Amino acid sequence: MADSAASLERVLVIIPTYNESENVRPITARIRAAVPTAHILIADDNSPDGTGAIADELAAADDHVHVLHRVGKEGLGAAYVAGFRWGLERGYDVLIEHDADGSHQPEYLPVMLERLKTADAVKGSRYVKGGSTKGWPLHRELLSRGGNLWTRLMLGLSVKDATGGFTAWRADTLRGIDLDGVEAAGYGFQVDLAWRALRNGFTIAEVPIEFIEREYGDSKMSGAIVAEAMLLTTRWGLRYRVGQVSDWWRHRRGGRS
Ligand code: GDD
Ligand code: MN
Repeated sequence: MADSAASLERVLVIIPTYNESENVRPITARIRAAVPTAHILIADDNSPDGTGAIADELAAADDHVHVLHRVGKEGLGAAYVAGFRWGLERGYDVLIEHDADGSHQPEYLPVMLERLKTADAVKGSRYVKGGSTKGWPLHRELLSRGGNLWTRLMLGLSVKDATGGFTAWRADTLRGIDLDGVEAAGYGFQVDLAWRALRNGFTIAEVPIEFIEREYGDSKMSGAIVAEAMLLTTRWGLRYRVGQVSDWWRHRRGGRS
């Protein structure tokens, strides 16, 4: 489905930040080095640790760096949706989700962009051949694998790392998804978007990545975020499965009469 004639030149890497004062400078420098033509948008939720002010300094020194100041902590999903809108309004061809904390390595970006030439979206994936995680405690590994398994059972997704947050989207793919309808505020957002894209007939390719746990600052993952993701995935899954059964039933009855 990917339009091979569409331009993929104007790239925006979106970094959502909440209390990432130690990480925002080095990750910006690494992204700039890995893909020098790409622009960066730091979407900061008014971090109390001053991340937003550092982002402003970076933007003042480099015309490829931009900042979206948001009023307060509204979750990863909300920050990305706002970042996508910012980028779509300004005519970027590719919009990339990228964590601030070093877990996503910008050095993979050229490979992801190359793969995007023949896909509607590309995920950096821990769970395809060659992918891995480094430095995660066992409970986090189990949570991630369990979350992915649950997602596949409920939604029948073909993507192996549906909860992964390192994703390159064609602008056309995001335009084809109802972003206003995105329900998950937290990390369930990743599944929400992937599910919407696949249901709309878009393709998601996966390239292997090594995901490295952060050295500085803290993860914002919480019980409430996990609960929201589980609840939404289950609700979408039940709706989908009920739809499948009623289609089958209608088909069967139709076939008999
Ligand atoms: N603006 C904003 N607002 N940014 C946020 C918020 C928020 O409410 N919550 C988290 N972030 C930012 C962090 O500052 C970081 O840059 C990025 O989002 C990821 O947050 P982490 O807290 O480091 O996430 P994680 O390492 O636990 O989870 C990662 O892996 C998951 C897969 O297992 C993320 O990539 C998730 O998206 C992914 O689902
Ligand atoms: Mn992290």
